[in-house]
Amino acid sequence: MCGIVGYIGNKKAAPIVLDGLKKLEYRGYDSCGIASCCTGIQIKKGVGKIEEVEKIHTLADIEGNLAIGHTRWATHGGVTDENAHPHSDCSGKICIVHNGIIENYESLKQDLTSKGHKFKSDTDTEIIAHLIEEYNKGDLKEAIFQALKKVEGAYALGIISSDEPDKLFAARKESPLIIGVGEGEGFIASDVPAIVNHTKKVMYLQNERVAVITKDDIEVFDLEGNKKKPIIREILWDAALIEKQGYDHFMLKEINEQPKAIEETINGRIKGDKVDLSEEIKLTDEEIKKISNIVIVACGTSWHAGLVGEFMLEELARVPVEVEYASEFRYRNPVLGKNSLIIAISQSGETADTLAAIKEAKAKGCRIISICNVMASSIARESDSVVLTHAGPEIGVASTKAFTSQLIVLYLITLYFGKIRGILDDFIVKCRIRDLRQLPLFMRAVLEDTEKIKDIAETYYNTSNSLYLGRGIEYPIALEGALKLKEISYIHAEGYPAAEMKHGPIALIDKNMPVVVVATQDNITYNKVLSNIEEVKARGGIIITVATKGDKVIASKSDTVIYIPKTSYILSPVLAVVPLQLLAYYIALKRGCNVDKPRNLAKSVTVE
Ligand code: M6R
Repeated sequence: MCGIVGYIGNKKAAPIVLDGLKKLEYRGYDSCGIASCCTGIQIKKGVGKIEEVEKIHTLADIEGNLAIGHTRWATHGGVTDENAHPHSDCSGKICIVHNGIIENYESLKQDLTSKGHKFKSDTDTEIIAHLIEEYNKGDLKEAIFQALKKVEGAYALGIISSDEPDKLFAARKESPLIIGVGEGEGFIASDVPAIVNHTKKVMYLQNERVAVITKDDIEVFDLEGNKKKPIIREILWDAALIEKQGYDHFMLKEINEQPKAIEETINGRIKGDKVDLSEEIKLTDEEIKKISNIVIVACGTSWHAGLVGEFMLEELARVPVEVEYASEFRYRNPVLGKNSLIIAISQSGETADTLAAIKEAKAKGCRIISICNVMASSIARESDSVVLTHAGPEIGVASTKAFTSQLIVLYLITLYFGKIRGILDDFIVKCRIRDLRQLPLFMRAVLEDTEKIKDIAETYYNTSNSLYLGRGIEYPIALEGALKLKEISYIHAEGYPAAEMKHGPIALIDKNMPVVVVATQDNITYNKVLSNIEEVKARGGIIITVATKGDKVIASKSDTVIYIPKTSYILSPVLAVVPLQLLAYYIALKRGCNVDKPRNLAKSVTVE
């Protein structure tokens, strides 16, 4: 939700910042801008994606070795040139970019207006520039401390001033911000892809810290001005991972990376015939045995992974599980005991709703395990322990490989807990691990056979509505398939438990309604889903099924079948979701949609 980049060094700053912004465009893309400091501050900004704004304003042309830039996902104030970042104070000397929301901006604005400050935008961000100006008595760092103490809400900030042209200031509370350390140069960015081409040495700025970056040094302070030790880490990413590598879209690349992503996620976690997560989960066997219930908190696609996880954990580890929308969790005074365990799932590790849910659970004394794709992200740091998905960077806004990797981690946790809690014996665990190890191969087979999916996309891309049905562990896959379709193709799609259809949605069925049914054979409700299919057919609906290879019964009842290899029922979601991701992708492509940057969305939602 908004991307920020900054550079200080000996090189021309604007092209570096512009390049970084392009790598962060998945965070927001309604407007963008750059401010550079040379003989004063110069700002160029406007409405549109970076490529469009670049054409009009030649963003990279600004001179100077110090610059900040921003790509926006609007929250306060419409999508206009004035509301695009960077924003400056009255003097035009102090200039800032911001990611987050300033909750008390209205009262601060009133106060500053009464003191004579003139505002040029409707954003919450601009008040920070004026607030710093108000406190600035010649020492910008001090003024930043004072200003940030007045601010309520979340911020990641890049700040420059023509009075201190050899310093790039950064500050952070809740919203993510990293600092990159190069040879004679420094960077700030909302996320690693923006700077990984320049340096792999980064520092994750902590909450309520201010950093003063020069080309040769970084100093970090708390808001009281106490100096803190910067901790520099090495990023293990290969810069090539954030390129499309010949694919037309990141989404397609990431769908195809799934076999590798799940292999990486399994790697190192199976020792002999056992799952070993002891070093990551950091719970003793006694503590695991004592877990009374698990509450999974997550949003969007990660929430769907949680629903699959609920099924896995209840079925194989016999622990009661609830899955909560993280955004709702903290507002309903949840009942949690001292042996309740929270599992927070988040690809980005920065989702504000999930972070808030974690804080709520922590305040109630619960232990938090997070499943994240980004090491050292806010959610990972806020949790007691982290089990990483090793999916690699996910750039496409629609989550794909992170989702299937989350399912793998949930499965591993299930086997680990199930064994320790005495529900699964060694033999069962061994068989379950064998099933798991087959998945990458099976998934490659699904990915090699996409012609049928392209044909379906060709036939149905003009539809305006669709229904996705599934039961049991396949119901969350119906939800996920529907979410993928609506996110990137803007076709209305609803996911429903198949048996619930007759309680309402059946009224929607007519000859124009494609109904996608996920129905693998190996479960007790399979026959009942066949009846649901009959109900749709009787009303003229179009049936597209995702079924187990060789299932001729379902073929006779469907207009089209997409087959997946046979795996255990509990792992079938990992395979069944892949054709639905591809279907959404090819339909969106046919409709001419921007697959990687769907309208109104952003990759990481760092506002509540
Ligand atoms: O980074 P997170 O997993 O916490 O993100 C949660 C949702 O915002 C995310 O899954 C969203 O629904 C995606 N756009 C789905 O494709």
